[in-house]
Amino acid sequence: MDIKRVGVIGAGTMGNGIAHVFARCGFEVLLCDVEQRFLDRALETIGKNLEREVAKNKISADDKAATLKRIQTVTDYAKLSGYEFVTEAATEKFEIKTQIFRDLDRLIAPDAILATNTSSISITKLGALTKRPEKVIGMHFFNPVPVMKLVEVIRGLATSQETFTAVRDLSVKLEKTPVEVNDAPGFVSNRVLMPLINEAIYTVMEGVATPEAVDEVFKLGMAHPMGPLTLADFIGLDVCLDIMRVMHGGLGDPKYRPCPLLVKMVDAGWLGRKSGRGFYKY
Ligand SMILES: NC(=O)c1ccc[n+]([C@@H]2O[C@H](COP(=O)([O-])OP(=O)(O)OC[C@H]3O[C@@H](n4cnc5c(N)ncnc54)[C@H](O)[C@@H]3O)[C@@H](O)[C@H]2O)c1
Repeated sequence: MDIKRVGVIGAGTMGNGIAHVFARCGFEVLLCDVEQRFLDRALETIGKNLEREVAKNKISADDKAATLKRIQTVTDYAKLSGYEFVTEAATEKFEIKTQIFRDLDRLIAPDAILATNTSSISITKLGALTKRPEKVIGMHFFNPVPVMKLVEVIRGLATSQETFTAVRDLSVKLEKTPVEVNDAPGFVSNRVLMPLINEAIYTVMEGVATPEAVDEVFKLGMAHPMGPLTLADFIGLDVCLDIMRVMHGGLGDPKYRPCPLLVKMVDAGWLGRKSGRGFYKY
């Protein structure tokens, strides 16, 4: 399958990064969101991030201009009808993704691939909403997308080998490293990372150590570039809590129970960096 044009649904943190890497690697991108102001904000962010790459001599000023030219924005999905590949990076709510998958399934060609960047929703369940479950796949990028090398490529129960191969090859064209994973709550990345963060929060709740001390242990003892609580603040404590809940419900094992301190902080509106307060103040 020779994919040249891609649709990206959702122009938030991940969607703008995904549009950025596709366009920088020569693909024509149609970026969709519900309001033009979100698209304008995304283009502004992409422009700034490309400028950073120019400053680091990773790309030229001409590359930046050509990349931006390859990104078009729309609030109407109808324009996606001729696209062979659409990836979805909209808000992590099952009802929102349900609507998007049903609409796109009606709109795009029956053999087009429908990928999702979801962090925690079942690929199998999203596939079952469509008439093309063999064409539905997880393409899980990491934040910040232009920088992080990994793409978890997640097969739903019905995902075909042809779809998997197309998305694996696409990831390589984006200069990323695809890693194959099967569909299960949290996939591999969050299945392993979130319990680590959750346990780090327990150590703070139980007074074993301060957030600073916990993070120092991981930076100096395990050579992690940032400690688990700094990372949790960066990801968003509400996002961490949602993912723990998905794993707790989906895997049914009490070891995934969200730490009560995490629940309390989210209730207080302490969501990490984005709210100005989490384990640290920003
Ligand atoms: N933020 C991360 O670190 C991260 C990492 C990996 C995966 N993800 C996943 O990526 C997806 C997006 O996360 P994000 O952090 O970019 O969220 P975000 O809140 O920054 O952006 C979501 C965007 O989706 C748009 N949107 C909502 N409904 C829509 C619709 N019906 N059609 C088109 N656009 C719509 C919103 O307006 C918003 O601009 C989620 O599934 C999330 O789980 C996030």
